[in-house]
Amino acid sequence: MIAGARVVLYVTGGIAAYKAADLASRLTQAGAAVDVVLSRAAEEFVGPLTFEALTQRAVYRADASMTRGHQIAHVHLARRADALVVAPATADALARLAQGRADDLGTAIALSTAAPLVAAPAMEPAMYAHAATQANLATLRARGARVIDPDCGRLASGAQGKGRLPPTETLMDMLGAALGRDGPLRGRVVVVSAGGTREFLDPVRFIGNRASGRQGVELARAAANLGAATRLVLGAASVDPPASVDTTRVESADEMLAALRQAVDGCDALIMNAAVGDYRPARRAVSKLKRRGSAAQLDLVENPDLLRSLPGGFVRVGFAAETDDHLANARAKLRAKRLDALVVNDVGRADRGFAAAANEVTIVRPDRPDQTVPLTSKAAVAAAVLDVVVDLLAAAAHGPPA
Ligand code: CTP
Repeated sequence: MIAGARVVLYVTGGIAAYKAADLASRLTQAGAAVDVVLSRAAEEFVGPLTFEALTQRAVYRADASMTRGHQIAHVHLARRADALVVAPATADALARLAQGRADDLGTAIALSTAAPLVAAPAMEPAMYAHAATQANLATLRARGARVIDPDCGRLASGAQGKGRLPPTETLMDMLGAALGRDGPLRGRVVVVSAGGTREFLDPVRFIGNRASGRQGVELARAAANLGAATRLVLGAASVDPPASVDTTRVESADEMLAALRQAVDGCDALIMNAAVGDYRPARRAVSKLKRRGSAAQLDLVENPDLLRSLPGGFVRVGFAAETDDHLANARAKLRAKRLDALVVNDVGRADRGFAAAANEVTIVRPDRPDQTVPLTSKAAVAAAVLDVVVDLLAAAAHGPPA
């Protein structure tokens, strides 16, 4: 989404302006053309040279009226922008944006562009909580702006509270979804399950699995970047969920089933990537189990099969991690679980699947030749799976399971 995009980054004058340098750098590295526009106050915090060096492009100051190519700056930048990001957005900048003022180049671009607006407020907690700021945010949201909630924590003043600029990763996620708002999944609701389940024996021990959640998180991010309203049901994972999706955290298979029952209500597609434990301890001890000085046995009971327990009426894509006969097993699961597609990976190899950054999968569909996605990043695997989802939705080749 970000590669090839033209992003106007309007930096306004708060201490978090220095973090906008990282955002400018990361966006440039990801292949975006970043036009940085500084407010007057932003220049007090970070100079244009920093952004010019990071983006390798001209930086625009608050009073710039023409580009170096002799074009009217706000008109030119507004026209070609794919997105306008205001980060950090000070209380003053939010007020000026909400009022529709054009008192510097950044606000003039905001008034002139049809591109989506992403605003990342960052300020002292009292200013953020003030009714005036909240009303301005509500106005911007009502106009379709994507507002990224600030993080809680320590502010430069030493105060604790809500007002910190979120990490660059969060801003990139929100920008990715804003850029993809008119994508092929616009108006669709996609549910993704990811991560592993944990079944507790006692308050401190559990039976789990090696799922990292990385592939599922990439699937959710990819769905959001194609314009879908995305719901992620996330079990145990070693990665953070994307900021652009609505995430519910769960631990056990039962909790995952309950969360999925809610999430699939009104959805168009379910991508069941979670590694769901098939068994759980028959009992969960209230207090920590003690060593008894002899061999112990664990009684297990079967967990429900989540795919079989959920209703139909939407596209269903499953995942399978197999160590043997992976394609034959995949075909059997495709039928048994009444799936529209099953993505199978061979986890008998150390360099793919689980916590590895890369993955190699085969996408099996009932009526199509198998599609192998050669060893690549989990983001690229996610893109391939989402292509299949788009195709399945377009064909409306789904119906309730019999
Ligand atoms: N799955 C599920 N509920 C379970 C177990 C798995 O919905 N209790 C889903 C997984 O999320 C995945 C698909 O079923 O999309 C296949 O998972 P897998 O663990 O390979 O299937 P199992 O039926 O558990 O088969 P196996 O005996 O090989 O573990």
